[in-house]
Amino acid sequence: MRLNFDNIVQYHPGEDNSQKNWDMHYGAHPLIFKKAEQLRNRMTFAEELIWNYLKTNDWGFKFRRQHPISLYVADFYCHKLKLVIEIDGNIHEREDVKSNDIQREDDLRDFGLTVIRFKNEEIIGKLETVLSTIQKKLMQLHNPPLGPPVPVRTGVGGISILSPATVANVVCGFDILGFALNGPNDEITLQLSDEPGVHIINQDEFDLPTVAEKNVSGAALLALLEETPDVKGFTLYSKKHIKPGSGIGSSAASAAGSVVAANHLLGNRFSKEDLVRFAMFGEKVASGVKHADNIAPCIYGGVTLIRSIHPLDIVQIDAPPLHVTVVHPQIEVRTSDARQILKQQVLLKDAIKQWGNIAGLVAGFIKGDYDLIGRSLEDVIIEPIRSILIPGFDEVKKNCKEAGALGGGISGSGPSIFMLSRDAETARVVEVVMKEVYERIGVAYQTHVTTINMEGVKVVPPAPVRTGTGGPKGE
Ligand code: HSE
Repeated sequence: MRLNFDNIVQYHPGEDNSQKNWDMHYGAHPLIFKKAEQLRNRMTFAEELIWNYLKTNDWGFKFRRQHPISLYVADFYCHKLKLVIEIDGNIHEREDVKSNDIQREDDLRDFGLTVIRFKNEEIIGKLETVLSTIQKKLMQLHNPPLGPPVPVRTGVGGISILSPATVANVVCGFDILGFALNGPNDEITLQLSDEPGVHIINQDEFDLPTVAEKNVSGAALLALLEETPDVKGFTLYSKKHIKPGSGIGSSAASAAGSVVAANHLLGNRFSKEDLVRFAMFGEKVASGVKHADNIAPCIYGGVTLIRSIHPLDIVQIDAPPLHVTVVHPQIEVRTSDARQILKQQVLLKDAIKQWGNIAGLVAGFIKGDYDLIGRSLEDVIIEPIRSILIPGFDEVKKNCKEAGALGGGISGSGPSIFMLSRDAETARVVEVVMKEVYERIGVAYQTHVTTINMEGVKVVPPAPVRTGTGGPKGE
């Protein structure tokens, strides 16, 4: 069949492409069709294997293989459900290819498409599991009759949760380590709504955006809504106690708390990993990049290691009892700014030191070896650059260690500083030491003395919902 490209709407990166009236190729160029044809003629063994199932599947959905979409060729595509299935060979382990994959996935999601990926070896070694994952995804994307019955609770009350602050990086594990705190917590109440989208009502003084796409909770819930075609929308009441820009996971608490609440309302149909995936859309709004080192501990509780975000691989790490002291000098450091000042290259000798510390820290947590934890709380890559933004940093660190803290450093992207201690008494002494420094240099501050929260986001009895405050500000 001859294809006609004359009236095809073209994709423009950076523009809002989701609302255009796309055909099923999303403005793909004739050259992409040519490439797709070539790829169809040299499918890998894993692709052939899965294609045998997809082309004649029992689920009643039509799949296309090597399907042109905008600038890309999707391995397999179901237009009815807007589902892309990608099969990754070994080449996708390469750093440059991985970052292309991330960009590609983001672009595809901008069209409202859902993307799931499998590795070659999963197709070859665990085909049954792969097929059942695909079936689950089809069920999520399709309204009944395929979908499972959804116990939907609407109306006043909804569900209320407490979403905890978190410490990301844990000094040496930039973007890969984090733990949750037993306070402060944000309060969120979520209701199902018959209005499409997410209606946000802020009940605090922070004046955060109420347009869903610009709000971290809103963006996370919109990502979840894309995979719940049976749900129209949500009304969200947010009361933040974790100051935005404080460095103890304020945006993550909003994003993670919202999707955990939504999952409860929807009968827990999503896994924790799915929730991390949705909540990362909120982090992207806050900092311009998806990272999960605040979100994962917020959702899972305890200490978490993000081995990879594409694909998601989250590992919960045991830890001995630890007491945490946090000081928040009252300046705001935006995560996006704190990321922008970082160097893009590291010296091998620094990388080796950092790897030793990360491995030492994880081993110290698992073995309950406090001294090893203390020795490993060292960052030779990020802290030397970011600490310049934080008044009193060197002094706080030095004095707290002298007062008995195991060690610590910048919490997330700062400006908060955290210290770990073996016992509550030392944690209190550390708080006094922190206060002394900021009193002396004349910077306002706030402190928290707490412990590691093993539970993560917690459902609480429904908060009385006050209507009439806030409402869309139409930014
Ligand atoms: N890993 C992130 C960063 C955490 O350091 O930029 C932000 O809270």
